[in-house]
Amino acid sequence: MKIDILSLFPDIFSSVFEESIIKRAKELGKVEIRIVNFRDYSKDPHHKVDDTPYGGGQGMVLCCQPIFDCVNAIKTTESKVILLTPDGAVYKQSLAYDLSREKHLIIICGHYEGFDERIRTLVDLEVSIGDYILTGGEFASMVLVDSIVRLLPGVIKEESHLQESFHNNLLDYPVYTKPRVYEGLEVPEVLVNGDHKKIDEYRERMSVERTKKRRPDLWSEERYDEL
Ligand code: ADE
Repeated sequence: MKIDILSLFPDIFSSVFEESIIKRAKELGKVEIRIVNFRDYSKDPHHKVDDTPYGGGQGMVLCCQPIFDCVNAIKTTESKVILLTPDGAVYKQSLAYDLSREKHLIIICGHYEGFDERIRTLVDLEVSIGDYILTGGEFASMVLVDSIVRLLPGVIKEESHLQESFHNNLLDYPVYTKPRVYEGLEVPEVLVNGDHKKIDEYRERMSVERTKKRRPDLWSEERYDEL
C-alpha cells in the first residue's frame, strides 16, 4: 500500500512512522508513506496557501489551488482521497478494515481555521476521528495510518485481529500475566486450570458483558446471534 499525507507541517511526522510496527511494515515493504507539503504546489509568488474568507469572518481559509494541484499530480485510478475534518464521518474499526484493502490512500490534513468548501469535491471520503477539534488533521492522519497499517496482511499475526476490541463489534476480554497473585489481586481460577473450552467460554462471556456494560451502543443481540 502507498500512503501520501498532504500537510503543511511535515516536521510533525519526523519520527512517528519510524518506530515499532509501522517501521517494521515499511521495512517489510508492506507500506510506503510519503509526507507531501502542498505548499510546494502553490502558484503564489510567496507560496501562500490560505486567504481571508469571502463574506468576512475570523482567520484564514485554505485555498483550492495548492490542494487541487497537489492531489491531481499524485492521484491515479487506484487512489482513494480522504479529507480529515471534524465534520466528516466518525472513524471506526470497520472503516480501518475497508481502507486497509486499498492500494493508494491520499490523506489531506485540513486546517483548524477551515478550508475552501470546494476542496470537498476532490475527495472520496471525509473522516473525523472523534467529536473534538484538533488544530489540524496531522494527528488524525497518524491515527488512520497506525490503525490501517497494522491490518495489512503480514504486518501482525491475523489471529491478533480476531481477538482484539471491535472485532465483531465486541470489546476485548480481560487478560492477565504472571504472577498469579499480585498484592492480593488474583488471576481468575478458570484461566489457570488448563481447560481450554472453559477458557474460551469465559472469554466470550467477559467480552459480551463488558460490551453490554461499557458500550451498549455497540451491542446488538441479533448481530451476536448471527456470529
Ligand atoms: N481536524 C480537526 N479536528 C479533527 C477531527 N476531530 N478529526 C479529523 N480531523 C480533524
